[in-house]
Amino acid sequence: MHSHIARVAVVSLILSVVGARRLDLRKPTRAAITRVNTDSVAGAPWFEYEKLQLTSDDLDGLSTRGSKPKVAGLIGFDVGPELQPGECRTFPGDSSWPSESEWSDFGDLLSGSLIQTVPVAAPCYKDWGVYNKEQCDAIRGSFPNPYFHEADPTSTMWPIWQGRSCLPTDDPDALCTLGAYPVYAVNVSNVAHIQTALNFARNKNLRFVIKNTGHCYLGKSNGAGALSVWMHNLKDIEFLPDYQGGGSYRGKALKVGAGVTVREVYEAAHRHGVSALGGICESVGYAGGYIAGGGHTPLSGLYGMGADQALAFEVVTADGRFVTASESSNPDLYWALQGGGGSTYGVVTSVVVRTSQGAQCHVDVQFRDVSTLSNETFFAGIRVYLEYFVPFTDAGTYSYFSIIFANGTFSFQMQPFFAPNHTIDSFNRLTKPLFDQWEALGISITPNTTFYEEFLPAYNDNWSMSTPVGESIVGGTNTLPSNRLFPRANFADPAKFNATWAAVAQHLAAGRRIIGYHQAPQNRLGVDNGVSSVWRTVVAFLITGADIPPDATQAQLRQAGQDINDMMGPWRDAAPASEGGGAYLNEANVLEPGWQASFYGERYPELLKIKQRWDPKGIFYATTGVGSESWEVRTQGQGLPTQNGRLCRL
Ligand SMILES: Cc1cc2nc3c(=O)[nH]c(=O)nc-3n(C[C@H](O)[C@H](O)[C@H](O)COP(=O)(O)OP(=O)(O)OC[C@H]3O[C@@H](n4cnc5c(N)ncnc54)[C@H](O)[C@@H]3O)c2cc1C
Ligand SMILES: *[C@@H]1O[C@H](CO)[C@@H](O)[C@H](O)[C@H]1NC(C)=O
Ligand SMILES: *[C@@H]1O[C@H](CO)[C@@H](O)[C@H](O)[C@H]1NC(C)=O
Ligand SMILES: *[C@@H]1O[C@H](CO)[C@@H](O)[C@H](O)[C@H]1NC(C)=O
Ligand SMILES: *[C@@H]1O[C@H](CO)[C@@H](O)[C@H](O)[C@H]1NC(C)=O
Ligand SMILES: *[C@@H]1O[C@H](CO)[C@@H](O)[C@H](O)[C@H]1NC(C)=O
Ligand SMILES: *[C@@H]1O[C@H](CO)[C@@H](O)[C@H](O)[C@H]1NC(C)=O
Ligand SMILES: *[C@@H]1O[C@H](CO)[C@@H](O)[C@H](O)[C@H]1NC(C)=O
Repeated sequence: MHSHIARVAVVSLILSVVGARRLDLRKPTRAAITRVNTDSVAGAPWFEYEKLQLTSDDLDGLSTRGSKPKVAGLIGFDVGPELQPGECRTFPGDSSWPSESEWSDFGDLLSGSLIQTVPVAAPCYKDWGVYNKEQCDAIRGSFPNPYFHEADPTSTMWPIWQGRSCLPTDDPDALCTLGAYPVYAVNVSNVAHIQTALNFARNKNLRFVIKNTGHCYLGKSNGAGALSVWMHNLKDIEFLPDYQGGGSYRGKALKVGAGVTVREVYEAAHRHGVSALGGICESVGYAGGYIAGGGHTPLSGLYGMGADQALAFEVVTADGRFVTASESSNPDLYWALQGGGGSTYGVVTSVVVRTSQGAQCHVDVQFRDVSTLSNETFFAGIRVYLEYFVPFTDAGTYSYFSIIFANGTFSFQMQPFFAPNHTIDSFNRLTKPLFDQWEALGISITPNTTFYEEFLPAYNDNWSMSTPVGESIVGGTNTLPSNRLFPRANFADPAKFNATWAAVAQHLAAGRRIIGYHQAPQNRLGVDNGVSSVWRTVVAFLITGADIPPDATQAQLRQAGQDINDMMGPWRDAAPASEGGGAYLNEANVLEPGWQASFYGERYPELLKIKQRWDPKGIFYATTGVGSESWEVRTQGQGLPTQNGRLCRL
């Protein structure tokens, strides 16, 4: 079973052998793809890859070659079982798992884009037949680089959720198993590929996974025993100088393909003299995970959330159909796709987003660390900074900072303070009171303030003093993240502020780190969508993590889960869901108690209704996704809720 050589080679080998044998029995199936003559109702034409679709006519065309029952059974629309409580998705080894010949028929229908998974680190192990020491060393070296995982059909960036079943190793005799890597991935290059894969998965009761970059902190782009669609190669971007959809917006926009990253969006916008809203991390995928999760951004103080900019989506839904979701076409789906979470309502193939005018003014400030101060002074300095979150967010600004305790010393870095639509003068006026107070405490800082006419160069000025812009280090198994969104009242109301500060100070005094932002997206465009109500009142977004020891045992993983929950207790008490607190679903702790209210706020009941309407069979599963409380992944005591197990209906 594990004797294949390389992922692409193996698949084509199987297909050509089986396909050749088949030739005599019936005409070979052609790929189930039609180039349609119609066009989108989104107000922007389909990309070329969106014109290549699977239609009922295709299935009829294939059936006239004498294979109707078979093809319809494999990839027919809107059929497939509805699982009862206790029933599971089919798993490799089950009698209901598709036969070799079904996989091969399916591969034919996909014109060779089906890839049998070979784990990305397989060359480190002997048991996959691809052992190669140099390659293994290169893989180990690349493991912290997000782009390495993006370029692989099934690799993801946080191996805990994969089950750590095939990490780079020095021990070639160790065992490498698939773990939560999907069994097969489709290298998507058109909409028909997605429809064909989705129909096959649904009809055969397979678990279905969507992977773009593999960034997800919660493991949503993993799935044991699954068929995956890999969106990475859908790289089209188009500038629309005068977009007019069915909705109220008219103006400049960008149509962005599902494989495009945040950096590619920024650069495309910049080429056309505008800016678009994305996050800090340049390698994050835009149309799928980022927008679906809400998307916070350095420009939130001017325009709100990333998802608020979405004007139309093209999407393959659970029944296998390809639809447009916009204000005037399937408005409920449109509403949910903006903030309701990735891999929940459909497979997005592109999104149209509004852009803003290019000529914005930005100020970057970098503060060097202040680690030579006494504890008292350090804490007083942090407290003072937090006191400015209300005026700073009222002024539309944003900061990204870290507070760490290491080697017996606290340090604080802000990298950067981002002040869109400010001049250096207005920025100095805004921040002078804080700097004066710091000075009075004996904290002297030398802000390096730079003015930029446009967004991209401001973004390109380093976000971090130690790493190049937007670079993140991934691939680790040493931390379990969690975060809290704190409403304005926590900073505006003196008693609440004291309680908030107490929670923060206690956390820091225990030697724990905080990565944080001041930002207030509010609802600056006055839109109505699925973005969590929590985001609309937030002024602070604080992130922390529990440490996981190297090569942690299951007991140690369980302990880390306990630690993070204990650690978050005081933050939750300071900003409970009942008072508008919550957590950002895209950077969250999978163990978050009451995640429905914390991640989705007041939107949850409506999001769940829309989920039931568009995906009644639960084809799209994502841990902590809307409706996921009806499912479980049976992980047989792996210490944490990984994706390495059977997916079953509760
Ligand atoms: C270092 C780092 C920095 C980050 N910075 C920010 C930030 O500044 N602002 C911010 O808002 N977020 C940020 N994030 C969070 C980021 O937005 C999420 O991790 C997001 O889900 C990543 O999406 P992806 O497509 O890149 O990843 P994936 O892991 O490939 O996908 C994430 C989820 O979206 C689903 N999905 C992917 N593509 C599609 C599609 N086409 N259709 C439907 N579902 C799809 C997947 O199934 C999965 O559920 C950051 C994450 C990291 C790791
Ligand atoms: C995936 O398909 C693209 C074409 O869309 C091709 O360029 C690429 O080589 C393929 N990748 C793999 C791993 O098969
Ligand atoms: C702590 O000290 C060690 C040893 O001197 C050093 O390698 C490490 O970088 C220091 N950590 C920080 C965060 O300064
Ligand atoms: C930018 O600032 C100017 C002057 O204060 C103001 O008139 C304008 O509305 C601001 N732009 C945005 C997008 O907030
Ligand atoms: C300030 O920032 C600019 C832009 O990043 C950089 O060129 C310059 O060297 C910095 N100056 C100092 C004193 O750090
Ligand atoms: C950003 O950081 C990198 C690496 O530290 C450095 O080479 C580069 O010059 C910096 N760029 C700017 C604009 O400061
Ligand atoms: C908040 O804490 C400060 C400093 O400890 C104290 O002076 C103030 O009275 C407190 N305010 C409230 C409303 O509890
Ligand atoms: C400063 O605080 C840290 C963390 O709480 C503690 O370990 C250290 O002993 C304190 N230093 C002093 C001088 O009190």
